[in-house]
Amino acid sequence: MDFPYIRAWVAAILGACLFSLVATHPGGGQSEGEIDFAPRAGLRHHPRPFPLGPDEPRPSYYLYVWCSPDDAAAPDFVATFAATSLRDGQPPIYLGRTVIPTRGNEAHHVSVSRDGRILFAGGLLSFRHDQDSNFFFDLRNPARPRYLRSSRPRNSVATDAAYSLANGGFLVTMMGGRDSGGGGRVVEYDAQLNLVGEYPRRAHDVPAGFHPHGLAVDEAHNLMITSDYVDPHSTLHPTAGVLTGNTVRVWDFAARRITHTLVVNATVQGVMDVALVGTTHDCPGCVIASSASDGRLYLVDPLRGHTQVAFDSGITGAGFHVIMTNRRRDRLWVTAALTGAIYMLDVSDPYNVRFLSVLRMGATATPHFITLSPDEATLVVSDYFVDQHDFGVVRCPGDKVVHFVALGTSSMEVISAMDLDFRTLFPDLGVVNPHGMALVPTSIE
Ligand SMILES: *[C@@H]1O[C@H](CO)[C@@H](O)[C@H](O)[C@H]1NC(C)=O
Repeated sequence: MDFPYIRAWVAAILGACLFSLVATHPGGGQSEGEIDFAPRAGLRHHPRPFPLGPDEPRPSYYLYVWCSPDDAAAPDFVATFAATSLRDGQPPIYLGRTVIPTRGNEAHHVSVSRDGRILFAGGLLSFRHDQDSNFFFDLRNPARPRYLRSSRPRNSVATDAAYSLANGGFLVTMMGGRDSGGGGRVVEYDAQLNLVGEYPRRAHDVPAGFHPHGLAVDEAHNLMITSDYVDPHSTLHPTAGVLTGNTVRVWDFAARRITHTLVVNATVQGVMDVALVGTTHDCPGCVIASSASDGRLYLVDPLRGHTQVAFDSGITGAGFHVIMTNRRRDRLWVTAALTGAIYMLDVSDPYNVRFLSVLRMGATATPHFITLSPDEATLVVSDYFVDQHDFGVVRCPGDKVVHFVALGTSSMEVISAMDLDFRTLFPDLGVVNPHGMALVPTSIE
């Protein structure tokens, strides 16, 4: 199967992000694999000892934020916070950071194992430094994550989304091949965190333009859907233009095999994410797919082989990025990174998606990664996408703030008193870029 992908000039898809360049900060840095939970002078938020004081309420959640400092000499790390509530106006308490042995990975998405014991974190650009891209942390003491190990797939680079498997392992989308122009893979880790597969297994089964970013699994119907976003190599200098995808792949989940490919819309340049939706319509494996280029969301009905526009924001450059749904899959939130907005939609009927609300976060905001609180009352948003500084074409630094958004039935409101500003949170490191986030309820301990 050969599906062409579109060679798009970067200005077309990333134009609105080319703003507010942020200065790098010298100094900082820590030794390898260290857990840094010690108070230090000058921190606006001192790391707090754990357990918290006897007068303080027990936290309900831990929040993990996977971060890359702008300072090229400082290792990447997971920052841990504790919160009693995610919408009471009190910023979560900073507990400390867990650093990894390497730097410059471009902290990307994260996932927690179903038993809450392992945090997976991916490095989008680890391949630039010829280093491991996939990182595992032990959450058995959830207040102090411990770095466990790293891994590097053999045939694929540029880690994106991860799905935690029932057996304790993870499936991970790797957007690129080892070399420019090659296809990526979906890789699998078992419960012991061993790399057990890179799919498709055989190179000649990798379809043209296979650059998987989004990942959705409908286990009940043995379906997996991945979406093709961009060849990561083509975003780095020197580039002859960014190679974007307009396809989704439908997989036999159990066999880890691509069964067919659907073009979302031939005009689309980059399908970042997919999420299962629908409660009222018999629609196995139906996903909403986010288009980075035309301000639209698309419905993909994999078994009927059908795609259609599900929602049109009317803003071509909206840049739809990451999608979250509630457990019932009747409500959807999606970041419109390039216009600093978040949309909330009713997706109970995938063939009749209804607009509920839009939240505009400001001219320089780049809301990208989002996660929903377990009680589905708060959305946690990281306002940062990717900043390739002088080595690539993606310049989307955002405001570097983690926001808490209170959700109503048809409203969204930023609780600004809870903002965690990663530009100033770590004065010893300088500006830090927050990306993937995970919320773990303390009841899981
Ligand atoms: C694909 O996009 C084009 C251009 O915006 C539009 O005219 C067309 O209706 C879309 N097709 C589908 C099937 O969504």
